[in-house]
Amino acid sequence: MLSNKVSLKELKKKGKNTSIYGSRYVSEPIPKFEIPEEGMPSKAAYQLISDELNLDGNPNLNLASFVTTWMEDEADMLISQTNGKNFVDNDEYPQTQIIQNRVINMLARLFNAPHNCEFVGTSTIGSSEAIMLGILAHKWTWRENRKAKCADCSKPNIVMGADVHVVWEKFAKYFDVELRMVPMEENEYTLTADNVKEHIDENTIAVGVVLGTTFTGQIDQIQEINDLLEDVKDEKGWDIPIHVDGASGAFVIPFLDPDFEWDFRLSHVRSINVSGHKYGLVYPGVGWLIFKDKKFLSDDLVFEVNYLGGIIPTFNLNFSKGSSMIIAQYYNLLRLGKEGYSNIMNNLMETTTYLAETLENTGYFKLLDEELSLPILAIKLTDKVEKIDALGNLDVFEISRKLRGRGWLVPAYTLPHNSQKTAVLRIVIKENFTRDMADLLVNDIKNIFKTHEEVSTEDLDKKNPSINIF
Ligand SMILES: Cc1ncc(COP(=O)(O)O)c(C=O)c1O
Repeated sequence: MLSNKVSLKELKKKGKNTSIYGSRYVSEPIPKFEIPEEGMPSKAAYQLISDELNLDGNPNLNLASFVTTWMEDEADMLISQTNGKNFVDNDEYPQTQIIQNRVINMLARLFNAPHNCEFVGTSTIGSSEAIMLGILAHKWTWRENRKAKCADCSKPNIVMGADVHVVWEKFAKYFDVELRMVPMEENEYTLTADNVKEHIDENTIAVGVVLGTTFTGQIDQIQEINDLLEDVKDEKGWDIPIHVDGASGAFVIPFLDPDFEWDFRLSHVRSINVSGHKYGLVYPGVGWLIFKDKKFLSDDLVFEVNYLGGIIPTFNLNFSKGSSMIIAQYYNLLRLGKEGYSNIMNNLMETTTYLAETLENTGYFKLLDEELSLPILAIKLTDKVEKIDALGNLDVFEISRKLRGRGWLVPAYTLPHNSQKTAVLRIVIKENFTRDMADLLVNDIKNIFKTHEEVSTEDLDKKNPSINIF
């Protein structure tokens, strides 16, 4: 027995002629706090980490995130071929830079940049970086204009709705700009022109509007806000730009509804961001920022570096970043074309509408907004649920928790100020969420209600046992 143990130890030490699971690495604690003195074979390191990652949720069932979880094999090949290229090394990888510029060209035209303007843009890590850079540029332009008039430029402010993503608040804090955030109302979850009118003044560096809010997928009143800013410019001379946060919507609306005017066709829309890694259908992290005209991006913000060989202009918060997602974005644009993106977006909307109807038909859910603009569903519980005693403690948070038990990741949350009384479940429909998956999800949701009703009735029965009189 003992000799067998010793020889097993020896065998493990040698680590030869056995699979990873027969090696010593699986029976020892994994290093967590200190870099180990000695390394381990690549297969062992791979297996240990890969096994731990099984504890993560399944990205394909992640209906919480907007971020792409599936790409074609050819895209995967290009991504792994280009993983080692630092995008900032423009001089060494000039073709990658050229490809980035081609994507910027395509997006600027998709967003209807006027022919008489010289658009400029950059790739970013995501929409967050793009928004920060876009608004920063507007802060600079506002300050330069104020300085030229010898006016006070110590109190810049930015106006937006409470429906914005947290990055807008971050911008205001990080870059020292007064945040004028318009609260929402019950049943009114987007920014309106009337709201904007009350909050702007000569120190407003920009108005932020959202094409597909993170909370509900709805669209702010972009055209009406543009009309208002045109009037304000005529009446008061304040030339206030709009930055459109098209993180999700700017890759959806141009394909679903090209005639809907939200982009550079509107006079005050001067910059737009979009996440390539959302409905651009690329893995994380790539985003895009496009200015309608280079005059809206002060030269002062573009740095030139010479230590990579050549003179390289950079306008980014980060210096180094991967090239692979930029290449993957170009792959999608070539591979899908406008037709492919339109087909995918239409399929997404069909699945979204189907899921919405099916959920509403259960009688348990109500859409926050019957008009669906993007493949995003925000649903709340109906009054019926509150009236059924047995379902009394089944709220959206509990449903979200229970769905997790089946692997589905569906977030529940309350809406922003002043509509925080409303709690919703949000389902983001992505490319690989098929009709079949929608049916499976609905089935699991129905089962939650069924089980809950049964258990609650059992509880009631226990509390009030019926008296058998015979
Ligand atoms: C409307 C909106 N803006 C900005 C962001 C931030 O985008 P990213 O994750 O690409 O930085 C998001 C993310 O969900 C979003 O929904």
